[in-house]
Amino acid sequence: MDNTATDFKNQWNAELYDSKHSFVSELAANLVELLSPKPGECILDLGCGTGYLTHKIASLGAEVIGIDSALSMIEQARKNYPQLDFEVLDAKKLPFTEKFDAIFSNAVLHWIKEAEEVVIGINRALKPGGRFVAEFGGKGNVKAIVSAIYNALEKSGYPADVALNPWYFPSIGEYGSLLEKHGFELTYATLFERLTPLEDGEQGMQNWIKMFANSFFNGLPTTVQISTLADIENQLRPTLYKNDTWFADYKRIRVIAIKP
Ligand code: BEZ
Repeated sequence: MDNTATDFKNQWNAELYDSKHSFVSELAANLVELLSPKPGECILDLGCGTGYLTHKIASLGAEVIGIDSALSMIEQARKNYPQLDFEVLDAKKLPFTEKFDAIFSNAVLHWIKEAEEVVIGINRALKPGGRFVAEFGGKGNVKAIVSAIYNALEKSGYPADVALNPWYFPSIGEYGSLLEKHGFELTYATLFERLTPLEDGEQGMQNWIKMFANSFFNGLPTTVQISTLADIENQLRPTLYKNDTWFADYKRIRVIAIKP
């Protein structure tokens, strides 16, 4: 482990995201199969990041708009795919009414605790008969990593405030009920484990924590950051480090819901 514990990253550093965390989009390539876009359909990619899946959907003949709340991601998406339409928009305030045949979202909804606001906006934005196809972290996602973080911070004398936990990982019952409450017909819902290899060998877990779990560490003294990261690695090494590769214990929800 190196000693640069203070370089906790802005997780929406688009270049870093593309270079070290591209697995996020690559692993979801078959989510696009579940979406099954048709030529001529109008599709919203909600939380498009740097545009990899937006491009994949467009290449199948659909007309796609990619949106993301992070300007850095949208700037990179526009550079990556200048022929496509990308906008900075907040998923909690979707401004569309009956515009889309489908709304697609990968690895984004677990960052938004105001899930109901997002579902209401999605419902409004879909045409009648339109579909919502999404994957995100579900109940139990990164459970081992989160519990190692809490444990290490507790031991270091800086116990984590639960408000610092940035994630929403619902069960399929909880999320399905939310969709049904807003009139959706849930046609597919699953929760499954996906042990996910992290890039960069020995640095993989540290990179992941610095990029995605930085809210727990910002503001702590550097010495505490260094010792806590080392403790987290020690706790996780027996289960999540194999053959020189770190893994994240991802657990994903996939849903398809139809607006009647
Ligand atoms: C996920 O894709 O499940 C995820 C990514 C970053 C932080 C937490 C979860």
